Amino acid sequence: MFKGVLFDLDGVITDTAEYHYKAWKKLADDLGITIDRKFNESLKGVSREDSLRLILEYGEMTDQITDAQFQALATEKNDNYVVMIEEFSEADVFPGILPLLKALKQHKIKIALASASKNGPILLEKMHISDYFDAIVNPASVPNGKPAPDIFIAAAESINVPVTDCIGIEDSKAGIAAIKASGVLPIGVGQAADLGSDIALVDATDKLTFDYLTTVWASKQ
Ligand code: BG6
Ligand code: MG
Repeated sequence: MFKGVLFDLDGVITDTAEYHYKAWKKLADDLGITIDRKFNESLKGVSREDSLRLILEYGEMTDQITDAQFQALATEKNDNYVVMIEEFSEADVFPGILPLLKALKQHKIKIALASASKNGPILLEKMHISDYFDAIVNPASVPNGKPAPDIFIAAAESINVPVTDCIGIEDSKAGIAAIKASGVLPIGVGQAADLGSDIALVDATDKLTFDYLTTVWASKQ
């Protein structure tokens, strides 16, 4: 039986993946760079700075931006994003997530947050679910962001559970790659076209029941 569950946040626990996209799209539009949802798949799970690098590369603007401008753009995106999540509350927790957190607690399974977002702790507070988490990894504390495995390895360590006894839940391509590289068992929230057809997938979070996780775990043995 698994002993720990490592959650991504944006797009798994709540709909913030959509707000990250809206905030990046506005920033890109202002720079004259057109990004769409397909391109956005490559930004999901990726840190703020790496996302901005990808957008500037995509718009062939990397060489035109100074370090100071880069920092200002990253701050501008985050300022816009923070306004969008200002009113977040319990109502913004995706369907099925609260029952899953409760069931995991009941079964004494450890829970950690493995999100690349520096806004993670604030969002958990706003949604009143911080208390379910035994640990929240500070993404600034790991050397390499997703798709590197670092944050999932750190998350497993933070709850004192070996990676081989953990399930990781992710909605992004970079995040699934990170989970796979860490030795954690992945469950994807999304479509095979984006996340691959070689892992357990749900199309919506209400399918993430405790029974479902148990079945996925059993099928890996
Ligand atoms: C990830 C999101 O969880 O966090 C990305 O999928 C986001 O879209 C990244 O860029 C960093 O988030 P933040 O809140 O620190 O800018
Ligand atoms: Mg995500």
